[in-house]
Amino acid sequence: MILGIESSCDETAAAVYDGAQLLSNVVASQNDHIDYGGIVPELASRAHERVIWDTVAQAMSDAGVTREHIDAIAVTEGPGLMGSLLVGLCFAKGLSVQWQKPVIGVNHIDAHIYATFIDEKPELPFVSLVVSGGHTQLFHVPRPLRHEIMGQTRDDAAGEAFDKIGKLLGLDYPAGPVMDRLAASGDASFYDFPRAMLRKGLDFSFSGLKTSVLYYIQDIPEEQRDDYLKKHLNDLCASISAAITDVLIHKLRQAVRETGVKSVVIAGGVSANSMLREKARKMTGQLGISLHIPHPEYCTDNAAMIAVTGWFKAREGQYDDLRLKPYARHQWDKKSSAV
Ligand code: KG4
Ligand code: ZN
Repeated sequence: MILGIESSCDETAAAVYDGAQLLSNVVASQNDHIDYGGIVPELASRAHERVIWDTVAQAMSDAGVTREHIDAIAVTEGPGLMGSLLVGLCFAKGLSVQWQKPVIGVNHIDAHIYATFIDEKPELPFVSLVVSGGHTQLFHVPRPLRHEIMGQTRDDAAGEAFDKIGKLLGLDYPAGPVMDRLAASGDASFYDFPRAMLRKGLDFSFSGLKTSVLYYIQDIPEEQRDDYLKKHLNDLCASISAAITDVLIHKLRQAVRETGVKSVVIAGGVSANSMLREKARKMTGQLGISLHIPHPEYCTDNAAMIAVTGWFKAREGQYDDLRLKPYARHQWDKKSSAV
């Protein structure tokens, strides 16, 4: 029985997983950042500190368990905001001392990959596309905890691209879900924005698209700009979403071709995107392979995915101790389970 704790960004979360079933899943989202157009690290740490006790207590009570039932405490060790990570990590270490239970550090991106095991058993090996505000990566997963990175973004993450481009269009943060909604009634062929690095392996780049949208907007005469953007907002959202999702699907297809896998998993906040889902369904249908997208609440940041990944690590005896340290940036060689 694993208690999972997640605090890497702006969600304070706790969950209990018993190896077969998720017993509870609590997420406290922060709205302290609304006026700032992005996450303010110091405000995030303070908000975690305010709610972490209650969030963990709620997860334990929802699961109907007490400390005696818990075998280990899994906690996000990184990557993420250092102050935010420290709140979760120190809390987990405190519990570990008080409860006399081991602590297990979980890599946040690994956890996004294994979120799919919360409510299904995808056929192994699979290819996983993790797309969120902080990550855009492709993995080959022969079995749990033995994933290999195949490609990743060289600059912005896909969600970050949605959010930053949305801001240029005058939309509030996070712009991804709003652009998705507006794109539904827009014309994706309205403007042909660039699809970067299609022929360059499995890495991604989205910062050029952002610049291209910026130039597009600057080219509109200033006195007409607001009216023009208002009139064509849906078409622009559709055209931009098409550019982002075309690249994601193109690389995903290439990864499937290179590995010969029979199933694909898409996870992270951007997996909620309707255009991405539709294109992924079409692509996997054409190839005759299966598609798994975890339930939306397991795609955005949550502790259920931390608890499940912690359970896999416990099964292999991968426990940590109080020397466990947070890390802000991803360390493929050292900290991820990636081989
Ligand atoms: O996984 P997540 O909740 O947090 C992390 O970044 O780890 O992902 C949030 C990101 C934001 O960038 C948000 O704009 C994007 O996912 N997002 C979407 C959609 N829903 C969330 N992007 C495009 N379409 C959506 N429907
Ligand atoms: Zn995440």
